[in-house]
Amino acid sequence: MIMNAKDQDELERLRLNYLGKRGQLTQITKEFKNLNAVEKADVGRIFSESKIAIENALQGAKVQRLKGSEKIDETLPGKMPTLGHLHPVTHAIEEISSIFEKIGFVRVRYPEVDWDWYAFETLNMQKTHPARDDIETFFVDVPEDKRFGKQVLTPHTSNGQVREMERVKTPPIRMINIGKCYRRQSDISHTVMFHQFEGLVIDEGINISHLKGTIDHFVKQFFGPKRISRLRPNHFQFTEPSFEVDVTCDICLGKGCKLCKEGWLELGGAGMVHPNVLKAGKIDTEKYTGFAFGWGVERTYMMKSGVKIDDLRLLYGNDIRFLNQF
Ligand code: PHE
Repeated sequence: MIMNAKDQDELERLRLNYLGKRGQLTQITKEFKNLNAVEKADVGRIFSESKIAIENALQGAKVQRLKGSEKIDETLPGKMPTLGHLHPVTHAIEEISSIFEKIGFVRVRYPEVDWDWYAFETLNMQKTHPARDDIETFFVDVPEDKRFGKQVLTPHTSNGQVREMERVKTPPIRMINIGKCYRRQSDISHTVMFHQFEGLVIDEGINISHLKGTIDHFVKQFFGPKRISRLRPNHFQFTEPSFEVDVTCDICLGKGCKLCKEGWLELGGAGMVHPNVLKAGKIDTEKYTGFAFGWGVERTYMMKSGVKIDDLRLLYGNDIRFLNQF
């Protein structure tokens, strides 16, 4: 009977029928008190043997039923272990490197804890320049060097300029320096640690058109063929003339919209290398000229089409729900 039960409900009914409080087997126990010792032993044995047999039959029927209902598709692939992936900023760095490497730039890295000498002094920045005080820059608490001065957490990748001139000695120089930078600023568009990429080109006859052409090339490669760049006059101590580089907004492509207002988004700084900087790097200023540019990787990445990050700090929050989207 048990083996022929139609379903789970019938099995349960059968279980109650035999083993339930008022079940047939349970009734027997009520008769125990009327039996003598010998009878008790016999009936007791039969009772427990029957109970075990019924329980086993019920269990067997259950297992049988489960086997019948289980639908296992053995051809399905197994569950794959979850895989991590590179951080979006690492992707951006790799993409930026490869764009510049394809046009002959050499990727380098210079110290991220460097001397004031390379971060400021050789870049034609006076002692009173605001970047040289500790409201803007992190200074390292170690004794000053007589020649190189204090140590700083580099606030920009421009510390690589004179270092690269010292390394290469005789132009041509085509450097792309990507590294970590630190500034005392944290809000939706700034993180205390961020990355910059710095381009430096020095050769005979280098002029502003080479700078504009290189930036245009980068903008088209990184942002897509529809976006264009423009140079706007600006001021930096280490370039003359200096520019701010803008790129057209992804949404309105330069027409002006609610998001960008005037159609342009600011990328970062650029200019023709100041003769004092070339001299600091022992480059012959009669023979060579150069251009440099430098700006934030995170900022540049945020302006890429389709990337919608409204708070830069999210990039370094290590929240897996955020990172999984990339
Ligand atoms: N170092 C400048 C900054 O961090 C950017 C810059 C780089 C400007 C190279 C001119 C040339 O703002």
